[in-house]
Amino acid sequence: MPGQTVGVLHDADGYGEAFADVYDDWYGSSFDTEGAVAALAALAGAGPVLELGVGTGRLAIPLAAHGLTVVGLDASASMLERLAAKPGSDAVLAVAGDMADASAVVRAAAARGGVVPPRGYRLAFSAYNTFLNLHTEAAQQRCLEGLAALLAPGGAAVIEAFVPADPADVPRTSLDVAKVTTDAVVLTATEHDAASQVVTGQHVELRDGQVRLRPWRVRYLTTDQLDAMAADAGLHLDARWSDWRGTPFDDDSDTHVSVYRVGSSQ
Ligand SMILES: C[S@@+](CC[C@H](N)C(=O)[O-])C[C@H]1O[C@@H](n2cnc3c(N)ncnc32)[C@H](O)[C@@H]1O
Repeated sequence: MPGQTVGVLHDADGYGEAFADVYDDWYGSSFDTEGAVAALAALAGAGPVLELGVGTGRLAIPLAAHGLTVVGLDASASMLERLAAKPGSDAVLAVAGDMADASAVVRAAAARGGVVPPRGYRLAFSAYNTFLNLHTEAAQQRCLEGLAALLAPGGAAVIEAFVPADPADVPRTSLDVAKVTTDAVVLTATEHDAASQVVTGQHVELRDGQVRLRPWRVRYLTTDQLDAMAADAGLHLDARWSDWRGTPFDDDSDTHVSVYRVGSSQ
């Protein structure tokens, strides 16, 4: 059933429902999509590939154009509608569901037919801070365990995320100007809870006398914390870069691309 949406929506769809109509316009050109697709295609081998939080298909569509079987999981019906409207999306099998329960969602979709079951994936990945949209430690841990269960022997789980600042340097609240055009302004308001490592935000769009709130929430992680959680899930770190081009990761890196493999490193 290429291009078709299967599965059930969960209440994890908040981010996608809030941003689907502006995601490509606001963020589409700010990514190194070409570098990401090249790196992911190299890691995928002959596939198949699973993307968690596939969104509008920025990565999944070009990966499928490489001839790879690509399954794209997302909780947001609106994001998946945007994906389905794009040329090339027929080659991506969209699955609706919560990535916290990725293994169960994929298993259920596979039982209905058309999706590679757990233990079948050469590559499972989550790009551009999407993993952090799981905003409790329990959900993040469950997702990592799901990734471990989905991968074929030797397969790779890849997470791209920002490196958090020292929490002591992050103010409890903030208000910034994100975007100004001749007919609108977008402000970003945040509240930071250092104890839970959660940042709750609102993009506040003011346009023609109207206010539109777009909420989001992330639970940030240091790379050490992510490695420890991954190890608990049975995944060991194989490589870490600063970006998709393989720039070495160091203390000054703002982002990381972390590649994990199933099993211990021995
Ligand atoms: C930042 S966008 C990334 C989209 C795409 N991967 C990209 O890199 O352009 C995050 C995506 O993850 C989805 N998402 C957020 N939380 C989710 C969850 N718990 N389960 C499944 N999808 C989720 C959102 O609906 C959205 O489409």
